Amino acid sequence: MKYLLFIALFSVALAGKADEGMFLPFQLKKNKKDMAARGLELSTKEIYNPKAPSVKDAIVSLGGFCTGEIISAKGLMLTNHHCGFDAIRENSTPENDYLTDGFWAQDYSEEKPIPGLTASIVIRIDDVTKLVNKQLSDQMSEDQRDAAIREISEELCGAAMDGTNYFAEIKPFYEGNEFYLFVYEVFTDIRLVGAPPSAIGKFGGDTDNWIWPRHTGDFSVFRIYADKNNAAAEYNENNIPYTPIKSLPISLKPKQSGDFTLVYGFPGSTDQHYTSGKLQFYMDMERPARIDMRQKTLDLMKPAMNGDAKIRIQYASKQARIANAWKKWIGQIGGLKELHALDKKREFEEEYMAKAAEKTEWKTNYFSVINDLNTLQKENEKFEFARAMFIEYFYVGPEFFSYVLDFSNIANNYEKLDAEGKLQEEIDRLNKKQKGFFKNYNKELDQKIFNRLTPLYISYVDNELLPDDLKYSWQREGDRIYEKSLLLNPDKLTAALDKFGKKTTKKIKNDPAFTFALKIYGAYFKNVSPNYNGFADKQEQLMKTYVKGMLEMFPDRKMWADANSTMRIAYGKVDGSSPRDGMEYIHYTTIDGIMQKYDPQNPDFQLTSRFLELYKKGDYGNYAQDGELWVCFTASNHTTGGNSGSPVIDADGNLMGINFDRSWESTMSDFMFDESRCRNIVVDIRYVLWVIDKYGEASHLIDEMTFVK
Ligand code: ARG
Ligand code: GLU
Repeated sequence: MKYLLFIALFSVALAGKADEGMFLPFQLKKNKKDMAARGLELSTKEIYNPKAPSVKDAIVSLGGFCTGEIISAKGLMLTNHHCGFDAIRENSTPENDYLTDGFWAQDYSEEKPIPGLTASIVIRIDDVTKLVNKQLSDQMSEDQRDAAIREISEELCGAAMDGTNYFAEIKPFYEGNEFYLFVYEVFTDIRLVGAPPSAIGKFGGDTDNWIWPRHTGDFSVFRIYADKNNAAAEYNENNIPYTPIKSLPISLKPKQSGDFTLVYGFPGSTDQHYTSGKLQFYMDMERPARIDMRQKTLDLMKPAMNGDAKIRIQYASKQARIANAWKKWIGQIGGLKELHALDKKREFEEEYMAKAAEKTEWKTNYFSVINDLNTLQKENEKFEFARAMFIEYFYVGPEFFSYVLDFSNIANNYEKLDAEGKLQEEIDRLNKKQKGFFKNYNKELDQKIFNRLTPLYISYVDNELLPDDLKYSWQREGDRIYEKSLLLNPDKLTAALDKFGKKTTKKIKNDPAFTFALKIYGAYFKNVSPNYNGFADKQEQLMKTYVKGMLEMFPDRKMWADANSTMRIAYGKVDGSSPRDGMEYIHYTTIDGIMQKYDPQNPDFQLTSRFLELYKKGDYGNYAQDGELWVCFTASNHTTGGNSGSPVIDADGNLMGINFDRSWESTMSDFMFDESRCRNIVVDIRYVLWVIDKYGEASHLIDEMTFVK
């Protein structure tokens, strides 16, 4: 008995955790048996086939940051409300506020084009590792290596795109040990079709974000448009709804715990191979400081937004973005600690080294790599930390920084631009830029953020890495910036751009916002960036070796390549969880729970009168299960940021719901997956349909879809 148990435990350890992993759809052969054993009825060819229609043709990389899925023969696409948030927000005004009231186009003509949004569909994926590796040698420096990879990538991508309207890219996998080529058709005419009010699509707000039990109707509806030949094309009034190769049928079947689930999408990034040194830096130093910086910004944004409808719309996306990562990071650190992740990392590192000691060749290649990585980390982490703080301050903090630096070109190259006849073009660009900037900018709020974050930045970063006089001068400089800067005064700036001359370049160069931004940026590029880059290059080389050793010395492990915004599949099952002592979560929530959370005093838990009426009626039609309307459910798929909007597909390939979150206790799965508590959160497709049908009264959309009962 003991022996059997030992074998069972041992083989689980070797096979990896059952639900862990995000697999490339063109390499499913090794998962085939496992998936079938868990109930999958589809063949791997039905999931991914570059030569014939397959589920992959219905999966969309949305704007590079989310996923969407096609659900009708007319290019109708679902994603999350928070993925469509900016599109909805951009079309909102205080008078016509789609964020608050929702939006439902009654016909094609009312669908709203969203400039800049893209929908990419994968045509095929090829393993080009051998072709790339042929160009590389161990003697190459990191720069030579990068150049060689760039060159062969250009050649292979060029060949893949030749004579088509496709886009191709090559990405590294397993820390640069393998390379795959991705070919996409990129659609650029994407239109907003429908969105529920935030009281449904963002119900629970930041309070419930990353939290189970959850009651958010986090979905929005778009349509992909194509030219008359059904090919991707720039926006044109005469474009027509795209006819997809494949669209997902929708399941109205009852669900139960244990049902097979497959998440198909574009997860952004994971770091499963961080060494103990890196993970410790992350948990003890880097993330706590970033959390602190964001906390301060959020504390200032919240009251400003609550007190003013204009500011609320202006800052809605920015606030959500900052708050989202802030809360996730807190969850990750907590989860990693509870999981004793550092101990587990160290244990594995011991095991790795013991393995390497078994063979001379392994010993030469791999024995020292973990120590090398951990030492390198210790020696350089002050630069990595300063870089993180710079990003938080310069790109997430006060907003004027990167905006004012965009005036560098005209300030420094005025004569050249003039001689080349490109001056007016640059002025027009800057005019457009400043209009966009001021549309969503509140100077008073920005100044408060500046006053709060600057001293914090100074206290976190090593003195010698900062601009010399910053400590003493920032307050004075800050006052001048917000009082005097031409670049932060929309009226004066518009006038100055209208009659732009040589003198104006002087004004820009002496502008207090411009000089301050340049000072912060300059110090970073002089003191931090070269050191950080040198470190990152060495780290990259060592990580490649480390993971190569893993692939070679532990061939029986169920390995998967870290997420990198490429197409992946994660499989699991509908499942509740018991993340902490004394807690036992069931796997679904219902509309009754929305009513329990309803709180007219709390902006995160409001409901519209229409919703309250419909609830009273209780007309759930086809969408109910045993008289209940499910809102969300949890499953055991391994997902991460970017998987938002991903379809959750059943054993037969039908749509069960839309992935939109993970539970707080499970966010550490970006570094370490834990089967017992990692759960993704999904909005049930039947709730989505109920909202479209009964709340939005958009039955014309329901008519486009195909259902399976
Ligand atoms: N946590 C989810 C994700 O990482 C959804 C975030 C949107 N919701 C919010 N309240 N900020 O993207
Ligand atoms: N909400 C996330 C997204 O936008 C998904 C949640 C996660 O990180 O798993 O992709």
